[in-house]
Amino acid sequence: MKVTKAVIPAAGLGTRVLPATKSMPKEMFPIVDKPAIQYIVEEAVKSGITDILIITNRGKGLIEDHFDRAPELEFALSSRGKTDVYNEVVNISKLANIYFVRQKETKGLGHAINCARNFVGNDPFAVLYGDDVIMGEDPACGQLIRAYEEFGLGVLGIKKVDEKDISKYSSLKVENIRDNIFKCTDMIEKPQTPEEVLSLYSILGRCVLPPEIFDILDRTAPGAGGEIQLTDAMKELAVTKGMSAVEYTGKRYDMGNKLGIMQAAVETALKHDEIGEDFRAYLKEFAAAL
Ligand code: UTP
Repeated sequence: MKVTKAVIPAAGLGTRVLPATKSMPKEMFPIVDKPAIQYIVEEAVKSGITDILIITNRGKGLIEDHFDRAPELEFALSSRGKTDVYNEVVNISKLANIYFVRQKETKGLGHAINCARNFVGNDPFAVLYGDDVIMGEDPACGQLIRAYEEFGLGVLGIKKVDEKDISKYSSLKVENIRDNIFKCTDMIEKPQTPEEVLSLYSILGRCVLPPEIFDILDRTAPGAGGEIQLTDAMKELAVTKGMSAVEYTGKRYDMGNKLGIMQAAVETALKHDEIGEDFRAYLKEFAAAL
């Protein structure tokens, strides 16, 4: 079955990047000249997604405005003959069918995904975490969708994390099937002791889920941090039916963390058509004096 729907949870409080997130959603932080969430929507579209639900909450209206038309701006650009940037601005509103729903209380990622039930209906769907930007030739979401189409099971986007960091992430029990494809049969969110660590593979930013996840989420009690954890619901799928996992190619930037934001900015600026060359020269000179 083709996966054409995606959900982007973007209702988190972003407490790790305060005070910037006091009134500005972290999903709208620019990476040079484009907000993080636009990179994510573009990845979904390149992966064959046509319909996207963005989960927001109070104070995230900027995200809605970004994917809407902007008549005054468009008029100003076209009357000044700025055709390229005019087209770029107009095309943002045409990327996909984009819908919004509010998560009325910030009760965790699992709770946020459960707000997508009516949008998803009986279809499989991709989840792209709103603060995880992944850049690469082959869109990460599409790599997971291909595994869904091959195996018919929910798919996790995974990468290895450092041992010292695993207690901040999920930890998965996986078995390699071939190349970068695994089977996952168990998982734990934020393991607190070395005995709880199943491997250093963690779910990072992307998954594809079957609609059965919603009934599981309905009965998922709050877990780590008192939040309803998506990992706890996916664990049930992994244990009962098994899930696939793809160690996706592409570089992930965590826009919910200060270092990730700076890495995304520097690496993207170096490749940027307009400022890449000048920025490289500046950075070399600056680094030489460090
Ligand atoms: P994070 O845990 O990284 O986001 O959630 P957070 O809660 O904003 O982070 P901190 O710890 O306070 O800095 C991963 C994704 O899930 C969304 C976030 O917006 C992010 O894209 N999320 C999280 C929700 O949509 N709702 C929630 O209740 C929690």
